[in-house]
Amino acid sequence: MSKKRRIVVTSALPYANGDIHLGHLVEYIQTDFWVRFQKMRGNECLYICADDTHGTPVMIRARNEGITPEELIARSHAAHLKDFTDFEISFDNYYSTNSPENKACSERIFAAMEKSGAVTTRKSPQLYCEHCKMFLPDRFVKGACPKCGAEGQYGDSCDKCGGTYAAEELGSPVCTTCGATPVVRESEHLYFELEPFRDFLREWLPQHTTSDVSNKLLEWFNEPLRGWCISRDAPYFGFEIPGRPGKFFYVWVDAPIGYIASLANWCAARGEKLDEWWPQGGGAKADGTELYHFIGKDIIRFHCLFWPAMLHVAGIDTPDKVFVHGFLTVNGEKMSKSKGTFVNARTYLDHLPASALRYYYACKLGGTTDDMDLNLQDFVQRVNGDLVGKITNLASRGAQMLNKNLEGRLGSLDDEGRALVEFARSRADVIAQHYEARRFSQVPVEVAKIADAANEYFDRREPWKTVKAPDGAEATRTTLTAILNVFRILAIYLKPVLPVYADKAAALFGEASFEWDDAAKTVENGTIGKYEYLATRIDAKQVEAMVEKAKVKPAETGEVAHESRASKNKAKKAPDAECPAPGAECAPLKPEIKFDDFEKLDLRIGKVLTCEIVPKSAKLLKFELDCGGLGRRTIFSGIRGAYPDPAALVGKEVVFVANLAPRKMSVGVSEGMILFAGEPGKGGGVLSPTSEAGAGAQAT
Ligand code: MSP
Ligand code: ZN
Repeated sequence: MSKKRRIVVTSALPYANGDIHLGHLVEYIQTDFWVRFQKMRGNECLYICADDTHGTPVMIRARNEGITPEELIARSHAAHLKDFTDFEISFDNYYSTNSPENKACSERIFAAMEKSGAVTTRKSPQLYCEHCKMFLPDRFVKGACPKCGAEGQYGDSCDKCGGTYAAEELGSPVCTTCGATPVVRESEHLYFELEPFRDFLREWLPQHTTSDVSNKLLEWFNEPLRGWCISRDAPYFGFEIPGRPGKFFYVWVDAPIGYIASLANWCAARGEKLDEWWPQGGGAKADGTELYHFIGKDIIRFHCLFWPAMLHVAGIDTPDKVFVHGFLTVNGEKMSKSKGTFVNARTYLDHLPASALRYYYACKLGGTTDDMDLNLQDFVQRVNGDLVGKITNLASRGAQMLNKNLEGRLGSLDDEGRALVEFARSRADVIAQHYEARRFSQVPVEVAKIADAANEYFDRREPWKTVKAPDGAEATRTTLTAILNVFRILAIYLKPVLPVYADKAAALFGEASFEWDDAAKTVENGTIGKYEYLATRIDAKQVEAMVEKAKVKPAETGEVAHESRASKNKAKKAPDAECPAPGAECAPLKPEIKFDDFEKLDLRIGKVLTCEIVPKSAKLLKFELDCGGLGRRTIFSGIRGAYPDPAALVGKEVVFVANLAPRKMSVGVSEGMILFAGEPGKGGGVLSPTSEAGAGAQAT
């Protein structure tokens, strides 16, 4: 193979204020394919990413949850990384933009931007919420569209007429956080002027993006290029701009710089020099490094105009290529929360294997900016028909037959078998070219062709018959040797897509994790290991259950959910402000729990056999419940205040939490928890499927 390449690859940094979903995965999975392919080829390739942590949404969300932004971003970091890991996405470094490296690097690049004269200041009017004490970003204000009059539109563009405008132009604006009417205030902001980079960008774009992307961007070059506002007013979660107290870098300034910071963090941990991976100017130019960004089409402007200009002015190497992909649709439509097609990574994983989605995405990714459809029916068919039926079956039938009947020992190839294996091997370069060019969808096509030939050979040689024939053992061994060699090569070709699968396949042959060149090898006369399951059929029912789980009621989707969560939390912080139950005293709400938490409760019905006062205890009652199939249980419950005559409960049915860990108390072990709503002595009662037991009032 030719000389090792040194390659740095990034995916866009996901926002820390949201969960990873199947749309994001279009990007991270394809980047992972490409990086894994490069590594298999023996190149030095790093996959660098981080959470994008700064900005108003993180700040507001943390505020609503009553935690610090740092706590919120730490929680997201852990959750994102777990999702990625479970999807077999492997970063060399997954860092955070809220890091000392990123602060230093942002300041360094900003200093260069200022020094070049491209940073200007301008005063502009902006909406300010006096209640929230902040300038409102476009998405935090709603009002009537100034173009068509449609109500409830955001501060940047109208959903109804598609018009764009400034937030101050909205009719009857309201702050989406608190509902107050904002006022207009002047504020001074920093701008990064793009006009000085016109010539640089005009030349740069066609060389570093695909023609559809650069042509689209170059259309804007017929007019003066608009400057980019790079500052935000306090309060803002981000980096304060040196020498500008109260002004912060707009999140999109330090976000791409986060690529460098994450790489710098990786280098520092390993004693490597940043300049040798991503030349930072200052004369230390290392030749032969390559840099690629994978991004979605919604963030082209940031990566193909502002970012190269920032890097250029700071003397830092710009990316060799920005690879742009399209958006995910599900069943031909935009992902929808109400239809259950806006599926979080975790929800998917709770129902289906990661490898199935990776395989399906490979089938659909052509390396273009076209949108990509996840058709759920097609998904089930391709996984079952091709991955399981065609490809994996070669291994499961071949290896199991060899292990069961032929001591797991491979033989040698005969001419026909050798021709088949050679055919499989002959596709290596073509498949490698598809990977290199990100035409991932061609890989399963090539693999299926080879698998078809192998299955045809298998059926023709009828090993299930020859294995039973008196002298058929060696002929069968020869057949299975060819089949397993072909399978082994297919597993190598599929390794970037299915890394865990390929590692299990390697283990079957007693080999270490495959390299690309391992396809050149033939395995003969050795023994194979135990067959571990590689991929199983998926059921449309699993998909249905996932969609059902992902469904959010229309009233709870999108921004509405955000607002209702905000108001709920306000009630939590000020429990005395408003109370829904007239006349009753209102206990402060416990912190919000997720549906997943609730779902963990196993609620059962039990019949009260005995109910007694516990001596020397002011509150406790001791219950014996008949819990049907669960037998009898003893439960202590602190609800005596509601039942001065506990015997009245005998014979009633109550609801209890059956899967609570038994709890040792001074008076005995309690084996569950009886549900009670209200406060003993002040109202309320035990929950009962038959109404009379709920009569706490009756007992008073
Ligand atoms: N934080 C910015 C990126 C900063 S990079 C310096 C951001 N984050 S994001 O979480 O909204 O998106 C991360 C990546 O996922 C983006 O490249 C985006 O295009 C991609 N996708 C998000 N939703 C997507 C789909 N529904 N479909 C395909 N890709 C999508 O943008
Ligand atoms: Zn407000």
